[in-house]
Amino acid sequence: MLILGIESSCDETAAAVVKDGKTILSSVVSSQIEVHNPYGGVVPELASRKHIEAIAPVVKEAITESGININQLDAIAATRGPGLIGSLLVGFSFAKAYAFALGIPWTGVNHLEGHINSVFLGPESPSFPFIALLVSGGHTSLYYVKSHIEFQLLGQTRDDAAGEAFDKVAKMLGLGYPGGIVISSLAEKGDPEKIKFPRAYLPSTPLDFSFSGLKTSVNRYIQINENYKDHVPDIAAGFQESVVDVLSKKVLSAANQKGCDQVAIVGGVAANKKLRERIKNDASRKGISVYIPSIELCGDNGAMIAAAGYHYIKKGIFSELDCDVYSRVNKKIQK
Ligand code: KG4
Ligand code: ZN
Repeated sequence: MLILGIESSCDETAAAVVKDGKTILSSVVSSQIEVHNPYGGVVPELASRKHIEAIAPVVKEAITESGININQLDAIAATRGPGLIGSLLVGFSFAKAYAFALGIPWTGVNHLEGHINSVFLGPESPSFPFIALLVSGGHTSLYYVKSHIEFQLLGQTRDDAAGEAFDKVAKMLGLGYPGGIVISSLAEKGDPEKIKFPRAYLPSTPLDFSFSGLKTSVNRYIQINENYKDHVPDIAAGFQESVVDVLSKKVLSAANQKGCDQVAIVGGVAANKKLRERIKNDASRKGISVYIPSIELCGDNGAMIAAAGYHYIKKGIFSELDCDVYSRVNKKIQK
C-alpha cells in the first residue's frame, strides 16, 4: 500500500511516500527555521503563510523522488493535531483536496502517534508492548504502547516540554532558535559537572516531568553571574545533563513498572546525541533494548504520518471531508 504522508503542524512543511507503513520511498522536509530565527520562536501567522507557499512544491517533490505515478497512491494521511491551527489547516486541507481529486481515501493522524510510529521506519523496530518516551518541542510524555494505534499515557510534563526548555534556555543565552541543536553542540565543549542545575523527579507522580524549575534556575544563574558569557558551554552542558538525567531515569523506571524490556525514544529531542548515548548505556545495564529513529526521522516529517496513517487505512478507518483540525485536545492518544 502506497501512502502519501503530509505534515504541517508547526514549522516544517513535509511530505513523504511510504510503502506498507515501513519503507520510505521519499521524504521531503522544508524547514522554516530561517523565518522564525530572528524572533526566538515560531510566529504562527508567518508559519501558516510559509506552509501555503511550500505545500504544493514539497508534495510534488515527494512524489517525483519516490518514482511513483500519483495514480499509484492508495491513500493520503495528514496531521490533524495537535499543533498550530493555521499551520495544520494548510496540510490538512491540501490532503483533503488531493485525495478528493484522486478519488482515494484519506485519514487525519494525531501528530504524537506519528512520532511514536516513526520508530517502525528503521531497520530494527520494537515488538508490542513497549514504552515510548516522546520528547519534542511541544510534548514530553511516556506511553505504554500496545499496538500501532493503542497507547496508554503513563506520565507527561506538568509545564514545559523538554524541547521547549532547550529553546527557552537558548533564547536566554542569546543563541537563537531552535535551541536544541545549538545547546547540544555547545555542551560538547563544556563541563557537565561544573554547574549543577536541579532535577525534578516528582516523587508523588514519578512518571510526570517538570522542566520549568530547571529553566528558572538557568535564568537565575545568568542574572546573578555577570560573567556568564565566559562559560556558556558549561551552562549548556550542565543544563543538558539535568534534562538527560531525568529523561533516562524516568523512561527506564516506566519500563520497570510495566515489566517491559524495550523502550523507544521519539520526537525532536531524541536527536540529542547525549540523550541517545545515555539511555542506551543505562538501558543496557538493565537488559533493556532501546530503539531510536535516525536523526532525520526524530524531527517532524511526513514519513511518520504516513506510517501511522497506514494502520488506520488498513483497518478502513478514514476521515470525512468535513473533519476538522485540533490544536490541543488530544482526541485519541490519551484514551
Ligand atoms: O518533534 P519536533 O521536530 O517538533 C515538535 O513536535 O515539537 O521537535 C522540535 C524540538 C525543538 O524544541 C528543538 O529544539 C528540539 O526538538 N531538538 C533538540 C535537538 N534537535 C531538535 N533538542 C535537543 N537536542 C537536539 N539535538
Ligand atoms: Zn513533532
